[in-house]
Amino acid sequence: MEATLYVRWALLILTGVHSELIYVPALRHHGVEGTPLLLSVETRFPLDAVDVQGTWSHTRPSGARTTLVTFTKDTAITDMTYRGRLLLRQPNASLLIRRLTLEDEGVYHLSLNIEFHNQTGRVIKQERAMHVTVDVPVSTPVVAKTPAYAVVEDKANVTLSCSVERGTRVAFRWLRDNAALGPSDRYHLSADSSTLLVSPVRKEDRGAYRCVASNAVSRAQHSSAVELNVYYGPYNLEVNSGQGLRTGEVFTINPGELAFFECRADSNPPNSYVWISKSRNSTQVITEGPRLEVVSYRLAQAEEYTCRAFNNATQKQDEAQFTLVVASLGTGKEKHTAEGGAVSPLAVIIVCSLFVIGCMLLFFLRRSCHPKRVLMNIYNRPLSEQKRPHRSGHEDATEDFGIYEFVSIPGKMESAQASCRSLARLESVQDAHTTIYDVIRHVPETPSHSLLK
Ligand SMILES: *[C@@H]1O[C@H](CO)[C@@H](O)[C@H](O)[C@H]1NC(C)=O
Ligand SMILES: *[C@@H]1O[C@H](CO)[C@@H](O)[C@H](O)[C@H]1NC(C)=O
Ligand SMILES: *[C@@H]1O[C@H](CO)[C@@H](O)[C@H](O)[C@H]1NC(C)=O
Ligand SMILES: *[C@@H]1O[C@H](CO)[C@@H](O)[C@H](O)[C@H]1NC(C)=O
Ligand SMILES: *[C@@H]1O[C@H](CO)[C@@H](O)[C@H](O)[C@H]1NC(C)=O
Repeated sequence: MEATLYVRWALLILTGVHSELIYVPALRHHGVEGTPLLLSVETRFPLDAVDVQGTWSHTRPSGARTTLVTFTKDTAITDMTYRGRLLLRQPNASLLIRRLTLEDEGVYHLSLNIEFHNQTGRVIKQERAMHVTVDVPVSTPVVAKTPAYAVVEDKANVTLSCSVERGTRVAFRWLRDNAALGPSDRYHLSADSSTLLVSPVRKEDRGAYRCVASNAVSRAQHSSAVELNVYYGPYNLEVNSGQGLRTGEVFTINPGELAFFECRADSNPPNSYVWISKSRNSTQVITEGPRLEVVSYRLAQAEEYTCRAFNNATQKQDEAQFTLVVASLGTGKEKHTAEGGAVSPLAVIIVCSLFVIGCMLLFFLRRSCHPKRVLMNIYNRPLSEQKRPHRSGHEDATEDFGIYEFVSIPGKMESAQASCRSLARLESVQDAHTTIYDVIRHVPETPSHSLLK
């Protein structure tokens, strides 16, 4: 009989049935200071079938242990110093703390002895421990920035401090422009993250900073934004123009054309701009401001311009140089292609094609122009025809003299290609003209020698 009972109890213990005699819904409580907290316990046995004896005790984080309440089914004795603050909720043995203080933190132990009436002499022990933290809710955080004024990139450190008026065990996070602050070796956070040191400050640190404070009993509280202004630049200086043709640092515009150039650089505060001409030996400031206006009238004139951007906060400046070539875009293209140096092959092909097309257009235009046709006839005249000068349509070669000054090599593919490749300088183009011109000039002087030979 005794043996079978023992086996049954052993089985009950092994299957964990006893642990079901009491049930604790929550083993961890985050309490708010000044509010009640119920450490709830459910008993899972028929109260009228048992005798119960229990105690609640409190262990502080320091380790000091106090017995709070000792109770049976019918009576409860509360420690005098806690009287009025604690209430044992019979019959389930839950403990209510009426107003939490920070001192109420710690571990709460429930110890129960249960004796079933039908098994006198067998006391079942039940123990539970509940962890309680008590916190003060977090108030809206406030960010302070030192220095308060805008700072210069790479020359200053900025400290952002987040503080809360109320709140315990506050965790701080930082947002820039509403995104979590990414890791950086220039960001130094204090142990609790309440202070952010940016050292040194860079352009990318600009933005609206907020700190977020939270703890176990408060949802995240966002501070209002604090703007960090960083002076930087000038960066990425460049010159652009809506007019003309651009190749590398060379702009080509037509004579008489009004050209605008715009200088732009990334900078805070905005740069001041100065335009400098270096066309003559002397360097001279032409104008101030981001825009330059140029009226060009001199053909084949190449002028050097410089845009200088200056940031008076960072005391840094940058310069962009470019060459302005004034030329009708037919000949000007070849010129700057050669001068530009770093020109893409595509640009060369396009320019050559344009030149060839231009030459062909000139060729067709010339066909309707009488003196040029005559010139062509002189050049292309077959040898047999040259032998009969007086039948050439010209009564006298001397009549041709002085008419054709600005005629270029007419419509010959070889010469067009040669221009693309080797007529780097306008001077050489002019040489070609001069040569032709000279030939023409000399034609009338020795017509009979060469033609009648
Ligand atoms: C005791 O627990 C039972 C079962 O969970 C529940 O119905 C009852 O309301 C509880 N009593 C108290 C005083 O908490
Ligand atoms: C004792 O009583 C309880 C409750 O009435 C019951 O659940 C249990 O089975 C009983 N134990 C024995 C050994 O009879
Ligand atoms: C910024 O902090 C660095 C160390 O992180 C220090 O060496 C430097 O002097 C500080 N600069 C200023 C302007 O305070
Ligand atoms: C430009 O400078 C060079 C040498 O520095 C000098 O020989 C030349 O005369 C100068 N030209 C003008 C227009 O001042
Ligand atoms: C810098 O330039 C701005 C205008 O671009 C001007 O208002 C400011 O006074 C200047 N500051 C200094 C120190 O020169």
